[in-house]
Amino acid sequence: MSKVQLTEGVYCVGAIDWNIRNFHGYSTHRGTTYNAYLIIDEKIALIDTVKAPFFPELLRQIKEIVDPSKIDYIISNHVEMDHSGSLPMMLQEAGRAELITTAKFGEAGLKKHFGIDRPMIAVKEGSTLDLGKRKLAFVPIPMLHWPDSMVTYSSQDEILFSSDAFGQHLATSARFDDEVDQAVLMQEAAKYYANILMPFGHLIPGAVKKLGGLSIKTIAPDHGIIWRSDPSKIINAYAGWAAGKTANKALVIFDTMWHSTEKMAGAITDGLIGEGVEVKAYNLTASDKSDIMAEVLNSRALIIGSPTLNNGMFPSVAEFLCYLKGLKPKNKIGAVFGSYGWGGGAAKAVAAEMEQAGIQMTEPELTLKWVPTESELAQCVEFGRRIAARMNQ
Ligand code: FEO
Repeated sequence: MSKVQLTEGVYCVGAIDWNIRNFHGYSTHRGTTYNAYLIIDEKIALIDTVKAPFFPELLRQIKEIVDPSKIDYIISNHVEMDHSGSLPMMLQEAGRAELITTAKFGEAGLKKHFGIDRPMIAVKEGSTLDLGKRKLAFVPIPMLHWPDSMVTYSSQDEILFSSDAFGQHLATSARFDDEVDQAVLMQEAAKYYANILMPFGHLIPGAVKKLGGLSIKTIAPDHGIIWRSDPSKIINAYAGWAAGKTANKALVIFDTMWHSTEKMAGAITDGLIGEGVEVKAYNLTASDKSDIMAEVLNSRALIIGSPTLNNGMFPSVAEFLCYLKGLKPKNKIGAVFGSYGWGGGAAKAVAAEMEQAGIQMTEPELTLKWVPTESELAQCVEFGRRIAARMNQ
C-alpha cells in the first residue's frame, strides 16, 4: 500500500494482503487489508499496527512521513493479532512511544500476547488524549467483537477510527468507499458482519446510539475501504442487520450421499420458488460455510437437509450447524429434511441443533427411506410451499 491521506495530518499506513484466502476459517476470496493510521500533530500518534508479516510495509510508509522514533503514542484499539502483530517491532522503532489500550482486557491482553513489560496508559469511557490541535477520545465498545475492543474519535477531523467495526475483507488499490463497486463493497461488509459481529448484534444498538452522539464525516476501519462519502450507509446497514431485518428469502442447505437428500432439496426449492420466494440452495460439500453465513444474514427461512450416516447427521452438516450456533442468527424460521436407509436419526438431531441456535422450527421433519418416489417428491414440493406460507406470518 502507498500511504494515503485522509485529511491534513492523518494518513492510512496499513498493508494490503492480496492473497489471503482463509482468515481463521472465514473465506476471504477478495483478500483483505490491515489498516493502521498515523496522525501528525504537535504529538504524533499511530493507531493500531498490522499483521506481523506486513511490518516492513507499515514501517516503510511511516518513514515516508516521519521518523518512527518521533512517535509519541501507539494506540491499540484491539488486541487481536491482525492489528497488534507488529506491535513489538513497532515499539522497538518507536522507543519513546507510550502505549495506549483499554483498561478492560487491553492491557492484560497485550502483556499476555507479547510479554510487553513497559507501562501502558489504560483508558476507559471518557478518556481523552491531547495531541495539540486535536484531542482524541476513546470509546470502548466491549464485545464488538472482543472484550478489549474500542474505537478512537478525532472531533477536529470528525474521523472515527472504528477498529474491526464497519470493516470488510476487501483488498483493493482504492482506499475509499466512493472508489469501489458498491455491490461488492456491501456484499463484503455484510459477509464480515455475519461472520464476525452477528453474535454480538444485541450490542450494536447501544454502540450506534453512543456513536450517534458524535459528528462523523469519515469512518476509518481496520479492514477494507474507508467510508468517507456516506458513513451513514454502513451505520444504517449495521442497525438493520442487528435488528434481524430479513428479505422474503429462504436457504436450502444440505449434503447428500447417494443424491436422495439432494433430490429432496431440489423439490423443496421448487416449492418455495413456486410461491415467489427468493431461494438459494447450497450443497455443503461444494460450498463454503462463511459464504453461506453471508446469505443467512438476511434470509427468513433456513431449511437444512442431511442424510443419515451411522444413526446421526452427515459430518459436513454437523460442522455447519456448529458454526451457525456460534453466530446466533436472529429472526429465523427453520425446517429439516433428509433421507435414510433403515434407522434414521439425522433429521431429529439437526432439528435439535437448530432449536439450540434459536431458530423457530415450523414443520415436523420431512424424512423418507432410500430413494424418493414421484409422490414423495411431490410431498417435498408441498413442504416447500408450506414453509413459504409461514415465512410471512
Ligand atoms: Fe481484525 Fe478482531 O481483528
